[in-house]
Amino acid sequence: MKLILDCDPGLDDAVAILVAARYADLIGVTTVAGNVGINRTTRNALVVAQMAGLDVPIHRGAARPLAGAAVDGSRIHGETGLGNAVLPDLTRSEASDDAVAYICDTARSVDDLHLLAIGPLTNVALALQRDPDLRRHLAGLTIMGGGAHIGNITPVAEFNIRADPEAAAVVFEKAAPVTMVGLDVTNKVVFGDSDIARIRAGGTPATGLAASVVEYLLDRFREYLGHSTVPVHDATAVTAATHPHLFERSRHPVAVELRGELTRGMTVADLRPAALARALDQPSAPVSNVVWRTDVDAVRELILEAVLTF
Ligand code: BDR
Ligand code: CA
Repeated sequence: MKLILDCDPGLDDAVAILVAARYADLIGVTTVAGNVGINRTTRNALVVAQMAGLDVPIHRGAARPLAGAAVDGSRIHGETGLGNAVLPDLTRSEASDDAVAYICDTARSVDDLHLLAIGPLTNVALALQRDPDLRRHLAGLTIMGGGAHIGNITPVAEFNIRADPEAAAVVFEKAAPVTMVGLDVTNKVVFGDSDIARIRAGGTPATGLAASVVEYLLDRFREYLGHSTVPVHDATAVTAATHPHLFERSRHPVAVELRGELTRGMTVADLRPAALARALDQPSAPVSNVVWRTDVDAVRELILEAVLTF
């Protein structure tokens, strides 16, 4: 599968880059502001690629959401976005500062291209505004974001959607079908101390980095929630794109709440059978694929094995 990974590294994004490079033909990485600012997310993507020896171009994308103030994820991801990992001096540089043009041009020039977005959807929305036909040129569009009736940054909103709800609304409406790998499924694939030890035993710069970022994430979950395991959302989303047979999904209209005082950024999945029937009757009505469940052990193993190849 030829893949562009749009990301905001970010602890779990760092692991996701490795998993994507292992199981897909990762032809490009684009960055977006999200967990931390765009300078950091771009730098972090370059660092991950450098430490893992990946030959992949990295294009800098949007610095702010379409509307409203940026949501900061550094409480979870640390000031740098990569926890307390010790990072080498950067020897790489970004391929361009126009991720949106890169996505649009590549979608038209590369057959069977899949776009996987694991950060706020700002770049994808801007790409759709620039090229309203973008979706027709993609073989698939998968996101890590949202959830049906479940949130993390608020009771009902997930971070990536809440960080740019206007962009997410554009994407769900204008780029159907979107495969939503949301908290319903990503919360179920969790990692603990023994997994971190196994990754660290890989003994390479990349496995050292991966162990460090998962450990930092787990420490936050221990500190804030008292949990002894942690989801690595973005890595699970990569496997949903590369190993779709391991995931259960169903089709539903999904819309993004933009105005609710308590619900801004909620992905409202209409699970009523009649709603799907109505949407399917109107060729232009967007219908998404909501991913619910997976073979948790198989996906955990895929992620660990992927990381250990670097
Ligand atoms: C998502 O939010 C970010 O903090 C993570 O990188 C992931 O993409 C999980 O809600
Ligand atoms: Ca992310």
